[in-house]
Amino acid sequence: MPVVTCIEDLRRIAERRVAKAIFDYVSRGSYSEETLRANRADLEAVHLRQRVAIDVDKRSTKTTLVGQDVAMPVAIAPVGLTGLNWADGEILGARAAARFGVPFTLSTMSICSIEDVASEVQKPFWFQLYVFRDRGFAASLIERAKAAKCSALVLTLDLQIQGQRHMDLKNGLAVPPRLTPGTVLDILKKPGWALNVMTSRRRSFGNLEGQIKGADNLLTLSQWIAGQFDPTLSWRDVEWVKKLWGGKLILKGILDAEDARIAVSTGADAVVVSNHGGRQLDGTISSIRALPEVVDAVAGRCEVFFDGGIRSGQDVLRALAHGARGALIGRAFAWALGALGEEGVSLALEIIRKELDVSMALCGLKDVREARPSILRSG
Ligand SMILES: Cc1cc2nc3c(=O)[nH]c(=O)nc-3n(C[C@H](O)[C@H](O)[C@H](O)COP(=O)(O)O)c2cc1C
Repeated sequence: MPVVTCIEDLRRIAERRVAKAIFDYVSRGSYSEETLRANRADLEAVHLRQRVAIDVDKRSTKTTLVGQDVAMPVAIAPVGLTGLNWADGEILGARAAARFGVPFTLSTMSICSIEDVASEVQKPFWFQLYVFRDRGFAASLIERAKAAKCSALVLTLDLQIQGQRHMDLKNGLAVPPRLTPGTVLDILKKPGWALNVMTSRRRSFGNLEGQIKGADNLLTLSQWIAGQFDPTLSWRDVEWVKKLWGGKLILKGILDAEDARIAVSTGADAVVVSNHGGRQLDGTISSIRALPEVVDAVAGRCEVFFDGGIRSGQDVLRALAHGARGALIGRAFAWALGALGEEGVSLALEIIRKELDVSMALCGLKDVREARPSILRSG
């Protein structure tokens, strides 16, 4: 077993262990992947300000996210098909997050259902909602999240229509998978992954299975889903969701000051500055470039979270210095899970926390809640 010191190590292990179609589904972006690359490049271009001879003993990475105590300002982002990286991946991820003291977000498109996760994990998790054309079904998901005592609802707004990821088409990624000689050969080279995932009881969209009339097998279910992303989604629907849910509401996929102002006016508790990890509108700006304008537009009226390109504690600090209250990790989580299962997720969280802690110290900062633009180099 190699010594794992950073998220990149976990990514490499996942690449070796997980089937190519799934690894690419996690790692790649839409179209030419310009925005996917910009998320990383623009984060790397943000320079932290090194300071010396400041007492940085007794540091703290603790804070709150939508009023909930967290060990560090990080949450696990919703990641569809998580349980295809490692059997029962959503349960394992939620467990690792609960133990560590950060929120776990369960995707609508998860393999394990809301009820599966709630029955296996004691601490409340967040639920991410896609509002499907079938509003009755969307309402039933909200009710199920309430019954499971989810502590926040993350409403994703930037997938009213699906961007295309070329690699998913080339790899035949579909549910059920399209088996080509290439995919069969690849799976044969990954026996550990195949045995683990293929023998699991949960291999379909857990939240949807058995719930949709006329869609009783994987093929009809995935056809139903394909027709359900809703281009008519509007701010009126957001108000409808808010009323039905009645709890903490986080709006995900805000990248523009004008949208941020409307989001605030709905009474949301937080917005997530996000371009869906470069998986939707290719050619749009990186999340870190969008962050300051959203922070300005929100003007303290709700919390601002950030995602897109976070691979280290240094990246978390960069986002906080730009005004984010917390950061979500998507791929860093999925790679960690795909590499080493629950242990991998715990390791990834610990790696990020240590990097954050040391970087704070080297910037002369003791309390993560006090990260400000002053810890960045202006030039
Ligand atoms: C494999 C994968 C699946 C995703 N599925 C969802 C999803 O079901 N719902 C959602 O709101 N966002 C989804 N996202 C977007 C993430 O929540 C998050 O915005 C993004 O991954 C952040 O960028 P990062 O991966 O660079 O950290 C997904 C991202 C990935 C990588």
